[in-house]
Amino acid sequence: MAFVKVATLDELWSGEKLGRVAHGRGILLVNLEGSVRAYEDRCAHKGVPLSEGRLEGRVLTCSAHAWEYDACTGEGLNPRSAALRRLSVKVEGEDILVDVEPERTAGEPGHAGQTGSGGAGANRGCS
Ligand code: FES
Repeated sequence: MAFVKVATLDELWSGEKLGRVAHGRGILLVNLEGSVRAYEDRCAHKGVPLSEGRLEGRVLTCSAHAWEYDACTGEGLNPRSAALRRLSVKVEGEDILVDVEPERTAGEPGHAGQTGSGGAGANRGCS
């Protein structure tokens, strides 16, 4: 695992979301009042990229069938049983870095599920 630069703060203003690809994985970045979060860019329903959805406040709505998530926590709002896979993110200066593993192919050992975040600017807001 390694942190890779995926964007800059100039590309992700407060209240915005952004889709990126790193190591073959879709990454969703959100900036909530200066707090940057990163998730896999896949809706828990059928995998549609949430970067194509809508962000209103901290509510992230999928463009396909309107499932809703709390963009601050990744937890499902509708339905509550849904959840996004959160990726570790840190902000260094203007750079946004995400801890991304390359996409695994079938038969390879699975990933235990990385959660959390770190670094300056990664945990502010979302109160
Ligand atoms: S794929 Fe997102 S709600 Fe169906």
